Amino acid sequence: MYDGDIASVLISEQQIKDKVTELAKQVDEDYHQAGGDLLLVGVLKGAVMFMTDFARALPQPAQLEFMAVSSYGSSTSSSGVVRILKDLDRDIANRHVLIVEDIIDSGLTLSWLLKNLSSRNPASLEVCTLLRKPDAVQVDVPVKYVGFDIPNEFVVGYGLDYAERYRDLPYIGTLDPKVYTTGV
Ligand code: PRP
Ligand code: MN
Ligand code: MG
Repeated sequence: MYDGDIASVLISEQQIKDKVTELAKQVDEDYHQAGGDLLLVGVLKGAVMFMTDFARALPQPAQLEFMAVSSYGSSTSSSGVVRILKDLDRDIANRHVLIVEDIIDSGLTLSWLLKNLSSRNPASLEVCTLLRKPDAVQVDVPVKYVGFDIPNEFVVGYGLDYAERYRDLPYIGTLDPKVYTTGV
């Protein structure tokens, strides 16, 4: 699939699986207090694979909500402008909310999301991201659960796209620069 576009496999399907199980266990322990009132907010579209696998790996029940925001368009670097494409359907006041993200790169999407969601008065608000890039560490966004800290390379797969492609890869790979330097 996508022959020649993927330079290398950064995180294999099995490594993702193991990490998802580990994160779900950790979250399960921390949210015993929530008493079955955990609300996962998945950030479309990138987090869709992680969200569905994570929810199924979680030993306790959770409700699923989705929000769609976009900061990238079809470029490989963040524009800094966050657009809200789909809002939550429900009120999150007094709920234990866990944002589920695929990747934190510049941190702009997440810092905007945290501000936006905390203004809705949830009982608690935390973040679980599968991937985090170095720049995100510099931005002051509190992220409780991180799957992998990865190098500053453009990665695709397992929900992550370049120009809407590669989301359906079961692993996370680095994109061959020729894909975004030679044009489409
Ligand atoms: C990507 C990714 C994160 C965000 C991270 O989403 O899924 O949500 O960018 O970047 P940042 O930390 O620099 O803000 P994108 O805007 O590409 O939308 P998508 O999830 O639909 O691909
Ligand atoms: Mn996204
Ligand atoms: Mg994207």
